[in-house]
Amino acid sequence: MCGIVAYIGDREALPVLINGLKRLEYRGYDSAGVAILNKEVNIYKCKGKVSDLEQFMEGKDKTGKIGIGHTRWATHGEPNDVNAHPHQSYHGKFTIIHNGIIENYARLRTRLEERGVKFQSETDTEVLANLIEYIYEQGKTDAELAVRLALSKVIGAYGLVVLCADEPDKLIAARKGSPLVIGVGNEEYFLASDATPIVEYTKSVIYLNDGDVAIIRKEQLILKTSGQDMSVPKVTELTFDIGEIDKGGYEHFMLKEIFEQPRSIEDTFRGRVRPDDLELHLGGLYQVMPKLVEAKRIIIIGCGTSWHAGLVGEYLFEDLARTSVEVEYASEFRYRNPIINKDDIVIAISQSGETADTLAAIKLAKEQGALVLGICNVVGSSIPRETDAGVYTHAGPEIGVASTKAFTCQVTVLAMMAILVGKKKGLISEERFKNLIHEFTLVPGKIEKILTKADSIKKLAALYKDATNSLYLGRGYLFPVALEGALKLKEISYIHAEGYPAAEMKHGPIALIDDKMPVVVVATKDSSYEKIVSNIQEVKARNGIVIAVVTEGDTVISGMADHVIEIPDAENVYATLLSVVPLQLFSYYIAVMRGCNVDQPRNLAKSVTVE
Ligand code: F6R
Repeated sequence: MCGIVAYIGDREALPVLINGLKRLEYRGYDSAGVAILNKEVNIYKCKGKVSDLEQFMEGKDKTGKIGIGHTRWATHGEPNDVNAHPHQSYHGKFTIIHNGIIENYARLRTRLEERGVKFQSETDTEVLANLIEYIYEQGKTDAELAVRLALSKVIGAYGLVVLCADEPDKLIAARKGSPLVIGVGNEEYFLASDATPIVEYTKSVIYLNDGDVAIIRKEQLILKTSGQDMSVPKVTELTFDIGEIDKGGYEHFMLKEIFEQPRSIEDTFRGRVRPDDLELHLGGLYQVMPKLVEAKRIIIIGCGTSWHAGLVGEYLFEDLARTSVEVEYASEFRYRNPIINKDDIVIAISQSGETADTLAAIKLAKEQGALVLGICNVVGSSIPRETDAGVYTHAGPEIGVASTKAFTCQVTVLAMMAILVGKKKGLISEERFKNLIHEFTLVPGKIEKILTKADSIKKLAALYKDATNSLYLGRGYLFPVALEGALKLKEISYIHAEGYPAAEMKHGPIALIDDKMPVVVVATKDSSYEKIVSNIQEVKARNGIVIAVVTEGDTVISGMADHVIEIPDAENVYATLLSVVPLQLFSYYIAVMRGCNVDQPRNLAKSVTVE
């Protein structure tokens, strides 16, 4: 949520900031702004997207080699020009960009107002800017100390970058709870909320830890911990390329990411699944494998799509490894008083690795003594650093706000884990194991085949683009797919969609069904096939429109449903990976036809770093 970017060096700052903001726009797009230091600090900001900001800046002086920029997802104060970042302190000495929430901002603001400080905006960030300046002026101190002292009075989360007009040779950056990455160039530094704006300039990055404060001059970076100790920056090499964060000829990132799934799944199991080998190699779990095998219970936590992947994980672990699993919304788990036993293992799932609720739930689980594993996509993000061990998903950068390839890669990792644990528990015979691995390697090719049907799914989408409601049904492994299909449709097309276990339909949702209601049924051939056929009949008996995702060659459902989308046959275990793909495409085409901004749906942000 909110993207921040900053530059100090010998280049003109503006192009770096604008490019960076465009790359970060998926984190928020309510408003955008930059501040560039030349002789003085010039601030340009406005409501809307980065393209609106570019127009707004036309003809203005934008030169300067130090600058900061921000793209906002509004928390405090509506999206408008005044609330847009950067924010400047009351005497204009400090200009700051901030991602996160200052929870005690109201109390701090009142205290500053009592002392005569005037505010322009409704934001928590301006409170921080004014607090820094107040301390700076009252204490007659330097900028770094003023920032530190101000932060010591703040409750909440921040990733922030500060520009001080009196000390124009440096940027001051700090992190607590919100991510911040520094790219190390040759006598230049790039700062951003994540590495996507940095990778085109340098692959050497430093991920700040909570409590870190960095003082950055173009020729020198000083890193200090919260205790003011100097700390040696740990430089990490980025593992992705610039090409991976471009649209690559597709109209939208979401479409590109849907089409990338055969490759991203392969990348996720490459080196870990070897067809001729009777092992699965999950290096990140070696140390903890005995505990995972012995675990009496696994608690999976996540949010949104990652929570849906967790539900698939429940079926996988119960089926293949006979481990009991509970799947929890991280946001609920963290505020309950959950019972965690010593033999339990918590698995946190997150694409971004920065979701605030998931991070808080991890901290709670750790405090209660649990071993916490992570399944995460963004290397070096907070969740892999907070967890005891884990597995990366290797989906590559996911830029479209609606998650697609991250979901299938999360399920891929969960399937590998469950198969491995099942095998180590002696529940999966050698022959079954070989078969499961063989089937796994066929998944990417089968998804390729589904993707060739994109045009017919587009035609189907055209028929239902004006629907106002829809229902998604599935059973067993396919119930989480129904939930995920419904989430995709509602978040990018704004059509109301609900996912249900098919058998639950008669306990309420069936009342909604009429001849205008599309009911998407995920009904491939699995153990509950006969049951779902009955559910389809129940819908048809009420004149509902049935769109069914079925196994190739299915004649029974084809004879009943209004439309079928055929997908290749697959093991139960992998049916989720295949059946979700047509639903992603269906939502995508509907949203495009409705003129929605598919990659940046209204009100949403890619990485939810506030609770
Ligand atoms: C939906 C979507 C969100 C995320 C959720 C968790 O398409 O993208 O529901 O799945 O915000 O995000 P991560 O996985 O980054 O923790």
